[in-house]
Amino acid sequence: MREFVYYSKNAVTAGNLIGADLKKAGRMDIVCNFIVSAFFVSNAMRDDVRLHLIFDGGPNAPRHLVLESNEDMPISKKNIAGLIKRMLYKARDEEGLREIVPGCFIEKKGFEKVLKELDAEGADVLVLEGKGTDVRELKLKGNEVFVIGDHEGFAPGMRKFLKRIDKVSVGPRVLFASQVVTILHNEVDRNV
Ligand SMILES: C[S@@+](CC[C@H](N)C(=O)[O-])C[C@H]1O[C@@H](n2cnc3c(N)ncnc32)[C@H](O)[C@@H]1O
Repeated sequence: MREFVYYSKNAVTAGNLIGADLKKAGRMDIVCNFIVSAFFVSNAMRDDVRLHLIFDGGPNAPRHLVLESNEDMPISKKNIAGLIKRMLYKARDEEGLREIVPGCFIEKKGFEKVLKELDAEGADVLVLEGKGTDVRELKLKGNEVFVIGDHEGFAPGMRKFLKRIDKVSVGPRVLFASQVVTILHNEVDRNV
């Protein structure tokens, strides 16, 4: 499995807040772009992706959504937003992933706890940051979990925790999160 974590400080955590303008839902448009890049290539879906979305916006933060490659995964932004909306509507205020539709789970859990659990499971957790080690210097082993921020990056309060995690860069320019995931996939494609 190729595993990614996407963190958004403002992505909304209630289904009724996702309307026609996805930008107004804490930049749910960026989330949708990220999902397309994480799961799809031209005319095909990647069949080995697990994506953790952590939404820290109001009113029910935090929400941890997990999407796994499956043949029912929608590809259009509108349908992806509909899927997220449905998941948020069906979420409960408790830990423990609930499967809402095949391959799509949700629970109440925050960023730090999700990362600590992935680390405890033996994953190599890496935070994507411009000033990190060049991804091309790494020997990718296939157990990496790549952690990527939204357009605002990571909230100031997260810095202390993130300090302890290895940083990886994909290049000199600050890119969209959806571009970063494409590059990471490509690096892994070339390494396996
Ligand atoms: C649009 S950028 C966020 C920019 C934001 N102003 C910041 O200070 O982090 C979205 C995310 O993509 C990742 N990212 C962007 N460019 C990158 C690069 N060159 N190398 C590694 N990660 C990058 C980071 O995880 C970042 O949080």
